[in-house]
Amino acid sequence: MPSLLLFFLLHFSSLLPAFSAKVSGGHSIVFTTLGRSFYAFDIYTLPADANKNPSLPDEILITDGQYVNFNGYFPSSTSSSSLISLLTNQSHSFTPDFELVYVTERNGISTIFYDAVFGGIGVSARRRSELEIPHRLQIPLLDEEQKNEARVSFKDRPSLSGDYLVYVSTHEDPRESRTSWAAVYSRNLKSGLTRRLTPYGIADFSPSVSPSGIWTAVASYGEKGWAGDVEELSTDLYIFLTRDGSRRVKVVEHGGWPCWADDSTLYFHRRGDDQWLSIYRAILPSHGEISLDSVIIERLTPPGLHVFTPATSSANKNLIAVATRRPDSSFRHIELFNIVTGEFKELTKTVSPNSHHFNPFVSADGTRIGYHKCRGDGNRRKSNLLLFETVRSPVSNLSLFRIAVSFPSFSPAGDRIAYANFPGLYVIERDGSNQREVFSGAAFSTAWDPVRKGVVYTSAGPDFAPVSSQVDIISVNVDEEERNIKKLTTNGENNAFPSPSPDGKWIVFRSGQTGYKNLYIMDAVEGESKGLRRLTEGQWTDTMCSWSPEGDWIAFSSDRENPGGGSFDLFLIHPNGTGLRKLFQSGLGGRANHPNWRPDGKALVFTTDNAGISGEPVSNPHHYQPYGEIYTIKLDGSDLQRLTHNSYEDGTPTWSPRYINPVNVESLYDVEPCGFEDCHWLNQNNKAHNHVSPVLTGPRCSP
Ligand SMILES: *[C@@H]1O[C@H](CO)[C@@H](O)[C@H](O)[C@H]1NC(C)=O
Ligand SMILES: *[C@@H]1O[C@H](CO)[C@@H](O)[C@H](O)[C@H]1NC(C)=O
Ligand SMILES: *[C@@H]1O[C@H](CO)[C@@H](O)[C@H](O)[C@H]1NC(C)=O
Repeated sequence: MPSLLLFFLLHFSSLLPAFSAKVSGGHSIVFTTLGRSFYAFDIYTLPADANKNPSLPDEILITDGQYVNFNGYFPSSTSSSSLISLLTNQSHSFTPDFELVYVTERNGISTIFYDAVFGGIGVSARRRSELEIPHRLQIPLLDEEQKNEARVSFKDRPSLSGDYLVYVSTHEDPRESRTSWAAVYSRNLKSGLTRRLTPYGIADFSPSVSPSGIWTAVASYGEKGWAGDVEELSTDLYIFLTRDGSRRVKVVEHGGWPCWADDSTLYFHRRGDDQWLSIYRAILPSHGEISLDSVIIERLTPPGLHVFTPATSSANKNLIAVATRRPDSSFRHIELFNIVTGEFKELTKTVSPNSHHFNPFVSADGTRIGYHKCRGDGNRRKSNLLLFETVRSPVSNLSLFRIAVSFPSFSPAGDRIAYANFPGLYVIERDGSNQREVFSGAAFSTAWDPVRKGVVYTSAGPDFAPVSSQVDIISVNVDEEERNIKKLTTNGENNAFPSPSPDGKWIVFRSGQTGYKNLYIMDAVEGESKGLRRLTEGQWTDTMCSWSPEGDWIAFSSDRENPGGGSFDLFLIHPNGTGLRKLFQSGLGGRANHPNWRPDGKALVFTTDNAGISGEPVSNPHHYQPYGEIYTIKLDGSDLQRLTHNSYEDGTPTWSPRYINPVNVESLYDVEPCGFEDCHWLNQNNKAHNHVSPVLTGPRCSP
């Protein structure tokens, strides 16, 4: 990763976010999204009979190659014939080569677009005069909604039925802790009227509209709510009338990603007792009451490989497009499964064997399969990486930036950023220049001394390590030629998350020296040798401490109310050990981690699972916790604000000492095409659940 950073923004430096003249009340937060800065998707298509001529696979890029484009849908010719005129009020006498409805992420927020592509793409496409016809017509379908700052949200899984766009959105706060905001909406593209189809108090994912348009199927936790699952979800399948969400009924226990073959047949995925994700079929009764008991369920794909995210068309409902992970491949591919013959046909493996392909969809006539994958050919190539990506903020005067590194922290002047690089501690100028390694060993968490210029603290040693492993608090003077690296702890145990007091005299950190992780305070210059004061004590984990800018509080994360149970709440304590109080708890058994103080000391930013998950994790690249969102809260516990909306893992947030102007970086999205990993739990040699130590949560880079 260091080498990647070297490329970054040499071309774009003039477009970097700039420090503004002080905006009154303006603040900025920088946070990490696990791996996210290292991939960008586009939507491609192959003919369903691609294997007829495998020497010349006619793979076509449909989306623009500029943004992060995913989860496509081919409108049927009936629903789309009037769509262009509907959307533009212009009648067109020509038909596009491709029409697509899809999710596009721009400025860190997803929205839904309709693209019509005319001529010029594909091997055999007719050439047309560019003057005569636009090459690509791009129409945002939820533009008005997205203009409203308060409605900044995640949009996902669009489909079209007649004049209706059906999609997932997270713009309504359920006001219920540890509950997903994802719900299904329909928008009449003619009238602009939007209707919520999911009942309030419930979250729905992965909507699919039946061929007639009458029914919509979803994966949902229903009334039971999210149980904290992050791999295979324990969702059930429900159907309801697309018209108004009525006649909602549960049709399948345990299943996800439904798709309709006809108005009474659903395919879906489920991880069976044998641990293989497989495709199942549910046949709804054609007469009488639809209920769990009247639905016939049958497994369609065999054990021995993972098969998931099915899609089909009513034109050829025996053919299911699926994603697979086969034991002999570490890549996710799109294949066609014939339910009559039980045979698979490889589709994308011949085209790009070493890329992951996601979430297939099928044209209404069954002739084309669409999917998304990282753009490029999968070969690593030199690329410009954005150090900062503007993320649209739902709060005025608060700018948000995704940063392509982990555990960032700003120098007191705000001109430099320290970060952990797994391994190594690095420092970079805020404009992306002068990146250098200042400590080469394993290290995580970073903090700058508020007084002594150029002094950075970190935890040197393995992250996510058991309490018995050795991690030391060190300080590094990054300005000195002979880099002055000083080991501050001497106990040889697991010490981490140093945070200096505002006068630079003390360090609070967590240490596992008693076998349990509690908070301690030591001299910032001389370290533990000059004495150690214990701040908290108990057989639980107190961690991720952050000393307030006023000096009177230390915020930290703790599982003291459920020791070892994996849940973490935010607490405050005075440095003299008095005043302990709970600041925030994410439901029962939830997580709140990595608190960090606003420069004025009046609020904190942190990461939490309070908003549950926003999409089925299997439909994304790997995120250890596909749910961390960035929140802020005031010191008195009021004004809880959700800042990010996505299905990624957001974490390690930090405030900039000064306001940074958001910039439009839309057209600059040019990242290495395939720098991510597929879901680890799809690896066949790794079937057992890989429990990550809950002690340290939030994003980290894969080495
Ligand atoms: C945002 O900034 C404007 C302009 O500086 C200021 O007038 C306003 O009070 C600020 N709003 C908040 C909520 O801080
Ligand atoms: C199309 O025309 C109607 C009626 O004139 C108008 O209300 C609507 O805003 C127009 N839509 C677009 C996309 O221009
Ligand atoms: C502890 O520190 C807090 C905040 O600095 C202060 O208000 C309080 O009086 C102190 N308590 C004692 C017993 O020193």
